Amino acid sequence: MASLAETLETLEKRALGDLAGVGDDSALENWRNVYLGRRGALADYLRSVGQLAAADRPAAGQAANAVKVALEAAFADREAQIQALSLDARFEADRIDVTLPARRLHTGALHPTTQILRRIVSIFRDLGFRETEGPEVELDWYNFEALNIPPDHPARDMWDTFYVNPPSVLLRTHTSPVQIRTMERSTPPVRVIVPGRVYRYEAQDPSHEWMFYQVEGLAVDAGLTMADLKGVLVAFAQRIFWPDTQCKFRCSYFPFVEPGMEMDVQCPICRGQGCRVCKHSGWLELLGAGMVHPKVLTNVGYDPEQVHGFAFGMGPERIAMVTHVIDDIRLFYGNDLRFLQQFG
Ligand code: PHE
Repeated sequence: MASLAETLETLEKRALGDLAGVGDDSALENWRNVYLGRRGALADYLRSVGQLAAADRPAAGQAANAVKVALEAAFADREAQIQALSLDARFEADRIDVTLPARRLHTGALHPTTQILRRIVSIFRDLGFRETEGPEVELDWYNFEALNIPPDHPARDMWDTFYVNPPSVLLRTHTSPVQIRTMERSTPPVRVIVPGRVYRYEAQDPSHEWMFYQVEGLAVDAGLTMADLKGVLVAFAQRIFWPDTQCKFRCSYFPFVEPGMEMDVQCPICRGQGCRVCKHSGWLELLGAGMVHPKVLTNVGYDPEQVHGFAFGMGPERIAMVTHVIDDIRLFYGNDLRFLQQFG
């Protein structure tokens, strides 16, 4: 009995000594487990009380309980002290100097091309066009032949490309192949707007890149005329630039349209007065367009006697270059943050 009482006393001393050295929540939790836990020192002690002679047990049990109560009280005190301490420390760490300049937040932003593509597509969506896409790796058939550009046609010079698997698999040089793919899987009326990347085998300079974007438009229906084409394009120009923007149509040639044309718009920077951006002409070339060639309609199984179509293709970077007065197309895909961060 005497030895058990002694153990109890040393246990209490050791526990209180340890508790004084406990300095934070996790050490506190640890202490509780070691002394007061289900497998802790006090529980061990109580188990050994069970081995005593029956007459000695009540006194030993009471003594152990008194120590338990004392340790729990000491624990609660220490816990309160530590909480008060850590609050102070937290206040100290949270102290801020309100006179310091704020730290700049670095937020991401849409690429200038993405921004302009979204504007273009949403304008055409309002005009009743549905957005669609096509593959960048294309067959010669879709990129050239079905568009009325046979293998020996000189117009192929306008669209020199990269061959993935010559001569039939290539990187598309324009989004016009999506005209064919769309018509193949639908019946008129068709109205689509097609943004996407295109590739050209080209020496790079301030106005030429080997990869850029185009936005293609196509409408096919019974009775569509050049007036519909012009109406849609003028409506577009007056939404993306100014409501009173003047447009000019010039004859041009693309093998997949007849007649073919190009549309110029009044320079949106100087409003036609003449400036650096429009090279003092007051006009900017904006896009190619025309009425879908009967051969193209025939190639997709449409009857050119029954339906007519119009198509157009534009370069979104060109539009962004004009509106932001950017003088080098290579800036778009050079990944220089000093350039890109200007469009956040
Ligand atoms: N695909 C032509 C180009 O890349 C543009 C165009 C599209 C012209 C549709 C007419 C009709 O230059």
